[in-house]
Amino acid sequence: MSLCLLTFILVTFGLLSSFVSSFDPSPYQDFCIATSDSKAAVFVNGKFCKDPKLATADDFFLAGLNVSGNPLPGLRSFVKLADINSLPGLNTLGISLVRADFAPYGLIPPHTHPRGTEIIVVLEGTLYVGFLAPDTMNPFKTQSFTKILSKGDVFVFPQGLIHFQYNVGHTNATVLGALNSQNAGLIVVASELFGSNPPLLDDVLSKAFQLDKKMVKQLQGLFS
Ligand SMILES: *[C@@H]1O[C@H](CO)[C@@H](O)[C@H](O)[C@H]1NC(C)=O
Ligand SMILES: *[C@@H]1O[C@H](CO)[C@@H](O)[C@H](O)[C@H]1NC(C)=O
Repeated sequence: MSLCLLTFILVTFGLLSSFVSSFDPSPYQDFCIATSDSKAAVFVNGKFCKDPKLATADDFFLAGLNVSGNPLPGLRSFVKLADINSLPGLNTLGISLVRADFAPYGLIPPHTHPRGTEIIVVLEGTLYVGFLAPDTMNPFKTQSFTKILSKGDVFVFPQGLIHFQYNVGHTNATVLGALNSQNAGLIVVASELFGSNPPLLDDVLSKAFQLDKKMVKQLQGLFS
């Protein structure tokens, strides 16, 4: 490799790495265990931090990801999080885990995580997964990126993009996901738009989705 090319690569990498940043702030100390007890709190970076002198191994520990989590109503899927709300030692570390389980034809519906990219590995089963991305030249055009995954397969959903996971197998499926945020956020597209409280003006939804207002009312009834 010529010296010139090598220099070019090094400079390009240097520039790229200087632009890389995550949404969660970088930690300013080794750890910062979230606490709701303001008397034991010493400083803030994300949530209040527990006095480090009072830290124990249990602050960094969570049991229970060996079993499936809470059902998403009507969708035959189950989700369990190891995030800032269940594992206080994650505070400021910019990372979290999710376990998702699916009965046959169970679905995690189209949703986004506004603050985190998600990478999943299939532990069991067969899933149809994917995400949507607007065309960079024309935001009204959308490209879909989908894939059928089986055990051991890995897929990544870029931060903020709408994605879904659907069990297309005849058996249960289990997925483990990691997110580069302690609290990546969750926006479920259909229930956010049709289930809001108070409901959006039906004109807005009718025009946005090119549906007649009777259908809009029906969907609002289903999601509210
Ligand atoms: C899951 O792990 C907990 C310990 O963290 C244990 O008590 C429980 O029996 C386990 N459940 C199953 C179904 O393995
Ligand atoms: C699928 O999951 C359900 C709910 O956890 C469980 O009751 C059932 O036994 C599982 N089926 C198989 C074949 O593992």
